[in-house]
Amino acid sequence: MANIDDIKNKLKSVAYPGFTKSIVDFGFVKDIELNGNDVIVDLEITSSAQEVEDTLKNDITKELKVLGLENIQIIVKKPAAPKQQSNSVSGKNIAPQVKNFVMVSSGKGGVGKSTTSVNLAVALAMQGKKVGLLDADIYGPNIPRMVGFEGAEPEIVGNKVIPFKAYGIEMMSMGSLIDQGQALMWRGAMVMKAITQLLQDIAWGELDVLVIDMPPGTGDAQLTLAQSVPVAAGVNVTTPQHVALDDSRRSLDMFKKLHIPVAGIVENMSGFVCPKCGEESDIFGAGTCEELAKEYGTKVIANIPIEPSIRVGGDEGKPIVYFYPDSNSGKRYLKAAAELWASIQDSHKEGKIGNEAIQPTMPAGVSACSTEGQAHKAQQEAAKSGGCGSHDGDGKGGCGCH
Ligand SMILES: Nc1ncnc2c1ncn2[C@@H]1O[C@H](COP(=O)(O)OP(=O)(O)OP(=O)(O)O)[C@@H](O)[C@H]1O
Ligand SMILES: [Mg+2]
Repeated sequence: MANIDDIKNKLKSVAYPGFTKSIVDFGFVKDIELNGNDVIVDLEITSSAQEVEDTLKNDITKELKVLGLENIQIIVKKPAAPKQQSNSVSGKNIAPQVKNFVMVSSGKGGVGKSTTSVNLAVALAMQGKKVGLLDADIYGPNIPRMVGFEGAEPEIVGNKVIPFKAYGIEMMSMGSLIDQGQALMWRGAMVMKAITQLLQDIAWGELDVLVIDMPPGTGDAQLTLAQSVPVAAGVNVTTPQHVALDDSRRSLDMFKKLHIPVAGIVENMSGFVCPKCGEESDIFGAGTCEELAKEYGTKVIANIPIEPSIRVGGDEGKPIVYFYPDSNSGKRYLKAAAELWASIQDSHKEGKIGNEAIQPTMPAGVSACSTEGQAHKAQQEAAKSGGCGSHDGDGKGGCGCH
């Protein structure tokens, strides 16, 4: 007559669907109860797919019958099936009180990302939206100065930081939370933690839109942000010179890879406004950004010239769009904000907003080669394939390291 060890040995030849590893090796067999020729096997699996459960029940029954067991009962505990999304936004959102996230990005530093972020955020607020501005440039945060809060200490209530309020917007920056010197030392996992904390530990209100000023380039901060919240729009800031344009391509490619709809390009420092006569001259050669926009199926939403009042406004914490809304640049920021908002609405209608496709394949801290990592992968693969496990072709799966 069969004993528990015989049963365990047989179960070792039952592979988890889609994997070469057995349900015993994965640790999915929780209990075996044997009474004469009757057996109850308790399983706890990571997939909610019905097909996985059915396949396992079949395979186990087949194996145990060989031992002469007759009444084979298999109890399967599994996670609840994921809920279907009913609106056009899908995926993870660790700051659900915010309806729309806008990522302001550029391939290189110093092109005017922060200036653009501030003026777009204030312009959106002037157009009646509830707006937040997050300075996620943890390496060189300079938004506090641009909105008049340099050196100010934020209020903390409970374990949440209260954002500053100015010009109709809420604002928070890593620069207001830690010393500048510290900010320059962020690396790898710390970057990810910092970005998630800026979204979760700040008491953002119920916002229509959170404008996020990113560090230059295409690194951990951008990926972490996109995996943490569904970004509704990407705005690329560039200057018209060619080097900057090459960098811009990288930034626009990044939006594509991260499944972020591109709302448009802001061509900054795109000409020069003479402080004496007010005349605007085209010193870099206009039109280069138009070509770039066409190439990426987007448009230039503003051409902002080099204008001393923009720099002074930045240095003194007085955004031009708020103080001089009727200036040429003020009007262009207002128009860009309206186009940005329209683009967000379009993306909602077309169901383009979501970050499901770019979620990490492994949970934080879990190695792809560990048993836990493989079980997680099994769950993901089963959910993707409907769980039959036949997608591997040769029946092999997993991380390839066993
Ligand atoms: N259109 C403009 N006219 C005049 N000065 C500008 C304009 N745009 C930006 N500046 C000035 O250029 C400098 C750099 O701009 P900003 O800080 O916005 O760039 P950034 O891309 O955020 O830079 P970083 O990568 O260092 O964060 C600032 O002093 C800002 O006031
Ligand atoms: Mg900046």
